Amino acid sequence: MGMAPFPHQAAIWAALEGYDLMEVVTEKGPGMDVMLSDRSIQRRLLTPRAGGPARFAADLAAFKAGKSFGGAMFVAPELLVPGVSWDLVGSEYTSCEPEFEYILEALFGEKGYNLPLKKPNWAGVYAISVQNRPRAGVMVCRLSNGSQVEARSYERKEGLKGKKRDGYLGCEVYQLPGILWFTDIKQNLGPPKHGKMISCTTPDSAWLEIYHELGQDPKATKWFCISGIPREENPETYDATEKEHDRKI
Ligand SMILES: Nc1ncnc2c1ncn2[C@@H]1O[C@H](COP(=O)(O)OP(=O)(O)OP(=O)(O)O)[C@@H](O)[C@H]1O
Ligand SMILES: [Mg+2]
Repeated sequence: MGMAPFPHQAAIWAALEGYDLMEVVTEKGPGMDVMLSDRSIQRRLLTPRAGGPARFAADLAAFKAGKSFGGAMFVAPELLVPGVSWDLVGSEYTSCEPEFEYILEALFGEKGYNLPLKKPNWAGVYAISVQNRPRAGVMVCRLSNGSQVEARSYERKEGLKGKKRDGYLGCEVYQLPGILWFTDIKQNLGPPKHGKMISCTTPDSAWLEIYHELGQDPKATKWFCISGIPREENPETYDATEKEHDRKI
């Protein structure tokens, strides 16, 4: 995809794939390139994760730290596997807009997989239907390989029930009414014990503490949580001069 993740994004991806992203810089062996706040690229060591791949991961990072992009960039390549379904869940459809748009950009953009929007002459994955109308409550992308991603609104949560899904990406989950959003739909995750759930949010509700607790609990091996990531981690959006100016207002 021609981009390197920030460390908090890379840590989430690594945990979901069964690795711990270490602070150690390495040239050899398993590793992942990350982009630091000074835009330099560093190759960090990956070690096998105790308990195997995480299934439930949360990125509780600051405003504009890159949460939505990180979550979306995990989902986009998953959709290239045939027959995979992911739902984006937000308090309203509009809460899923950034994640949905990043996924479309990754699938169809020139810098992404550049998939065709119409049936190509050659055999390959292409779009069957792409609709992006948040205000009408229709945000869905279906691919020719049988995979799809669709946004769901928690306001209409009946729509979330009873559908087998390979994964859920929770968008700004601090706006949701508590961990019930998660426990209520977790049983839809299939195949059993494989489906994944990612929560991306600013840490703006007290109930999110539970993600942090589970992420630290050595018995909750399927949980991973990264928190306390400051805005500074994203050099694309962070401006130190502006921050200093705002501080003085
Ligand atoms: N790894 C990356 N490399 C380059 N640009 C990135 C990367 N991750 C995120 N960005 C860019 O940083 C900006 C903010 O990213 P994103 O929307 O993911 O942040 P966010 O934490 O979800 O923000 P918000 O708090 O508004 O929800 C976007 O323009 C995005 O394209
Ligand atoms: Mg976001």
